[in-house]
Order: sequence, then C-alpha cells, then structure tokens
Amino acid sequence: MSQLEAPLNPENLRTSTSVDALVSQAMLEVNQRIQTALQSDVVLINQMGHYIIGAGGKRLRPKLVLLSALAQGYEGNYHTNIAAIIEFIHTATLLHDDVVDSSSLRRGRETANTVWGNEAAVLVGDFLYSRSFEMMVEVGQMRVMEILSAATNTIAAGEVMQLMNIGEAEVTEARYMEVISAKTGKLFEAATQLGSVLAEADSEREHAMADYGARLGIAFQLIDDVLDYTADSDELGKNAGDDLVEGKPTLPLIYALQTVGQSECDEIRAALLAAQQSGQLSEERVQLVVKLVCQSGAIERTVEQAQQQVKLAIQALSCLPESKYKEALVSIAAASAQRRF
Ligand code: IPE
Ligand code: IPE
Ligand code: MG
Ligand code: MG
Repeated sequence: MSQLEAPLNPENLRTSTSVDALVSQAMLEVNQRIQTALQSDVVLINQMGHYIIGAGGKRLRPKLVLLSALAQGYEGNYHTNIAAIIEFIHTATLLHDDVVDSSSLRRGRETANTVWGNEAAVLVGDFLYSRSFEMMVEVGQMRVMEILSAATNTIAAGEVMQLMNIGEAEVTEARYMEVISAKTGKLFEAATQLGSVLAEADSEREHAMADYGARLGIAFQLIDDVLDYTADSDELGKNAGDDLVEGKPTLPLIYALQTVGQSECDEIRAALLAAQQSGQLSEERVQLVVKLVCQSGAIERTVEQAQQQVKLAIQALSCLPESKYKEALVSIAAASAQRRF
C-alpha cells in the first residue's frame, strides 16, 4: 500500500474517549469545514492538503476551541469555524516546519516535503495559511482576526528565533522558553482565548483562559522535546532524535549541559556544532548524546517543568463554573504531561 493510501491510525486521533465524546458532534462539523476549505482546482493542493490533513493528528487545538467555548456557555456555531481555522494554521506551520527541520516522518507518514519536495510543501503551506485568513473573514469579527493574525505572526517569529539558535550550546533556559511560548504556546493560547471571546466573557476570564492555553502549549512542547529523546518513532509518528540531528538546543539538552562533566559537555557541544554545519550526525554520535542526556537527569527536570506549567494551567481554570467541559479541559492538561505520543 502506498503512503498516499495509508489508513488513518485511530490512536493518532485520540485524546481520551470521554473528552472526544463531548465534542464528537461538533468535531464532525469541524472536519466537514476543513474538507470544504481544502478544495481547490489545483490538483496538487487537493492532493497534499488531503494527504496531511487526512493523516489525522490529534486535533488537540480544535478540541480546545470547542471545549473552551462550551465551558463558558457559548451556544452559537462559530466555535466550529474557529476550530477549523486553528487546525488549518497548525497544519500550515507543520508543512513549513518539516521543510525547515528536514523532517521525513509526520503523523506516521512520509512528510509532504519528502513526497512532493520542499517547494511544493512551502507553497501549499502558504495556501493553507491564506485560506485560514479567508475563513477568518467569514467569521467577520475583528477581535477574532486580531487574535489569530497576531498568533500566526508570533508563531513565525518563534520559528525564526529557533532557527537563530541552531547549533548554539549557549542558549539559555529563558531563551528556549521564549521560543516555545511563541512557536507552540501562542496557538494554544489563541484557541482557548477565542472560546472566551465567542462567549463574550469578561476580560478577567479571557485573560485566565488565554493563560491556560499558553501554559498547556508550553507543557505540550516541553514533552514533545522530551519525547524526541525518549520515544519510539513508530509510536510517535515522527522521527525521534531529530532535534539533535537538526542541532536544536531544547531543554533536555540545555539541562544536560548544566550537569554533565567537562568532557561530556565537549562531546555534546561538538555534536551540536557538527549537526549545524553538516545537517547530519552519525548514528553513533546521536546514541552517545541521547545516552548522556538521559543519564544526566535532564529528562526528569524537563518533565517537572512541564508538570509545573500544567499545574498553573489547571489553576487558571478556576475562573470557570463547574461543568463536564471544564473537567475535560483539566484532563487534557493533566494528560499532556504524561503523553507518550
Ligand atoms: C506537533 O503538534 C507540533 C508541536 C507543537 C510539537 P501535535 O503533536 O499536536 O501534532 P498533530 O496535529 O497531533 O500531528
Ligand atoms: C513545533 O516544533 C513546530 C511548530 C509549532 C511550528 P517542532 O519542530 O518541535 O515540532 P515537531 O517535533 O516537528 O512536530
Ligand atoms: Mg519539527
Ligand atoms: Mg519536536
């Protein structure tokens, strides 16, 4: 069976059964909106769009939009529009991110850039971005436009900041946090904040819901960066070890550099530099650095940081009245620090 026909991995689509049940009806609508928005007369756009979107993914961000709106008593229908827009923006960033990171596996399939080449992946990513702006105009609310346009701009800035850090062993924890808040936290923040905007919540609750999303996104990326050192590629649906090969100084690596001895430190720095200069790293070298990082306690420290963010995210939810939607938001946050894929 070719990659193009590969079936969906249902595990890939799941948050938890109880969370999914709460939004299953609305998610059908979201998926319908996504399918409609993907349509284009240009064959390659159709093909690539369906390839990456059809591969599934966890659909976490759209679910957050829906749950945030419903937890605040929203009764309209624009939450499904915004959920679809957020998934479009997310997918556009993934198409671009896989080109920048030279990644070959995404959602259990070969990346679009591997199948169709970098040029096509960048251009179809642009198509998805610009389509998401058309979809925002359909919603017709200036506040929604404001939040989403600022979010896409911040994500792009985050990816550029990260590019500037490649190969740099001196990157500080603060600088790393700035990057992940921008590249990942911001879209989660927009997702949950927009639930408040739709429900016309007061500014205090809007602020708290934005804080919940931002912290959840940071925790999510911290664990993504842990999984890059610890996970199995098949289970992850993308290649573990890529961050190191790309020369990306993520928090596990930053923490390891703080604790290992001088000669191990030199090994890690040399590997980062080699990755930056050649864009590749021998398997032997990858194994060595992964071992140093895992033995240094850096993984546990990074997970603790994620847990701390999750705790603060859940605290922010005290702004909400009790409901099954609020419970779902709590459980998504709690699960994000324990996820394995
Ligand atoms: C991948 O996000 C990019 C990161 C922020 C780490 P997801 O892990 O949510 O990707 P999909 O949508 O489920 O594939
Ligand atoms: C996430 O960064 C990309 C964006 C949020 C734009 P990563 O590069 O860590 O994501 P993966 O690991 O490729 O999914
Ligand atoms: Mg990447
Ligand atoms: Mg990653």
